[in-house]
Amino acid sequence: MNVPDLTSFAERWDRRHLLDLESLSAEEITILLDVASRLKEATEGCRRKLSLLSGKTCANLFFENSTRTRNSFSLAAKRLGADTVEFGSSGSSTAKGETFADTAKTIEAMGVDWVVTRHGTPGTPNLLARELGCCVLNAGDGPHEHPTQGLLDLLTIRQHRGSLDGLTVALVGDIAHSRTARSNIWGLKRMGAHVIICGPPTLVSPRWQELGFEVAHHLDEILPRCDVLNLLRIQFERQHARPFPSVREYAALYAMNAVRMRQAKENILIMAPGPINRGVEITPEVADGPHSVILEQVTNGIAVRMSALYLLSAADDRYRSGNQASA
Ligand code: CP
Repeated sequence: MNVPDLTSFAERWDRRHLLDLESLSAEEITILLDVASRLKEATEGCRRKLSLLSGKTCANLFFENSTRTRNSFSLAAKRLGADTVEFGSSGSSTAKGETFADTAKTIEAMGVDWVVTRHGTPGTPNLLARELGCCVLNAGDGPHEHPTQGLLDLLTIRQHRGSLDGLTVALVGDIAHSRTARSNIWGLKRMGAHVIICGPPTLVSPRWQELGFEVAHHLDEILPRCDVLNLLRIQFERQHARPFPSVREYAALYAMNAVRMRQAKENILIMAPGPINRGVEITPEVADGPHSVILEQVTNGIAVRMSALYLLSAADDRYRSGNQASA
């Protein structure tokens, strides 16, 4: 399999960590998406292996459950020829009182090049970026950010529409607890999309309006204007009190179903970061219907994670050899 020449992208990238999308420029996001597209093509849809990162090792430190992100990071590293180490909090020495930072330093001392971390506390990836010498990637820190989820959503939209500039994208559902929402909000804004933040008043802070975003509480009112709907799961596990009277009432007001599809644009894209709760934010006929790109999002997850691993590694190599790249 031919290894694509990505040097011109790597030369314009100087971050050793991927912690959020809020701090990335449009140029940086474009580099990440361009490299993801090339790697997706070179690996025949993320299915074949390249030897771009042979000899490197990626450690997955997941302190929260994951199906998509964890397996996707693992496959991304393997597709590029790297080795992987899997670490979960259950069955580890964290149960004996070891701190999160000490655990991460222990794994790093085994000779890893990237630490991918998911944790329930916002800011934990930033802590590791300060404490460790290797590259750190945020795979979700509490309700704060999930940058590779944001990137895979942007890549999926770009593949269908060519550009994000000028599109109207609604994020619908549990905005208050959603790291996916936050990464999408910053990434979409940076790339020129019009972002609508839609959900019950108990799950959408009015502060988003002060920050220049459109806030809506009625899906039916905004639906005809939307090019893309990203339907977010209600995160009951992060809520202390139920934010609406019943799941049935939530579904009646916000679930994307066959009746609502008739009010939508003919070419609307239906997205969901997953896990999806059929019958709550989306009905089966919409989740499995012709407008749904939910499984394409999953494939694109491997592409953007290959891109991030490659670019961070290139910046890290330059940093270690004393040439540029940020600490
Ligand atoms: N979208 C997402 O982060 O899914 P997982 O929790 O399965 O990783």
